[in-house]
Amino acid sequence: MSTTLAITNQKGGVGKTTTAISLSAALAGEGQRVLLVDLDPQANATSGLGLRDAKTSTTAYDVLMNDDRLEDAVLDTDVPGLRLLPSTIDLAGAEVELVSAFTREQRLRARLKEVPEDVDLVLIDCPPSLGLLTINAMVAADAVLVPIQCEYYALEGLEALRRNIELVRSHLNPSLAILGFILTMMDARTRLSQQVIDEVRLHFGERVFDTSVPRSIRLAEAPGFGQPITTFDPTSRGAQAYQALATEVLDRLPTAIQRERD
Ligand SMILES: Nc1ncnc2c1ncn2[C@@H]1O[C@H](COP(=O)(O)OP(=O)(O)OP(=O)(O)O)[C@@H](O)[C@H]1O
Ligand SMILES: [Mg+2]
Repeated sequence: MSTTLAITNQKGGVGKTTTAISLSAALAGEGQRVLLVDLDPQANATSGLGLRDAKTSTTAYDVLMNDDRLEDAVLDTDVPGLRLLPSTIDLAGAEVELVSAFTREQRLRARLKEVPEDVDLVLIDCPPSLGLLTINAMVAADAVLVPIQCEYYALEGLEALRRNIELVRSHLNPSLAILGFILTMMDARTRLSQQVIDEVRLHFGERVFDTSVPRSIRLAEAPGFGQPITTFDPTSRGAQAYQALATEVLDRLPTAIQRERD
């Protein structure tokens, strides 16, 4: 059985997609068989893996809304062990259409029952909102992973996110765990980054991953080449950070999920 992780923060541009792509690729590099679900109509995870123009008739929208088979939509990527459920702008329609749909919060969970047997981990890249697509991801997930950008107001909005997680737990998915918070776009030279790190650690304690992701131009460039950082520049600081994060994620997963299930 696979474990599902939703990468979420309703704040835009905090590094969700960069984390989704880079962590998925790093986990695949650790021998995990990974399915990355692009649940964002912006489809940045799809293009970041060089698959925006892939000839595919079925996408996340069709799987979610038309009950198309998952296996017909899933694409192989150039990274061994990493597959992708691609998104297109069509998915923006799902956010609206789901409002009146039967079992609207549980669609994705139901559809992910079809995840191939050989998949170890499913990572979901969420859109920057607390709408029904994100709720679907949280209901389908065993745990959430929250990227936080190192900036002023980093904690802003996290209270709303926490409330949503609580709502999902109490009504729809009692075993949803918070795997951790990952600090992104950190600039070790600035006092600001250090202040943000201190503040976030004060607030979330050991739930903050030891690894933080440095601000790195290579990470920003990689999607333009349709490659994860682990392929694009495997020795870069960004790649190393996501490799370290992958190790931490694999270390944490069993206890985090067990704790919530107990
Ligand atoms: N560690 C980093 N160093 C430098 N640039 C980064 C880093 N992480 C992300 N970026 C850049 O910052 C921008 C936002 O990142 P990303 O797309 O991952 O955020 P997001 O949370 O998925 O955004 P959205 O909310 O729009 O989906 C992108 O241009 C990305 O290339
Ligand atoms: Mg994104």
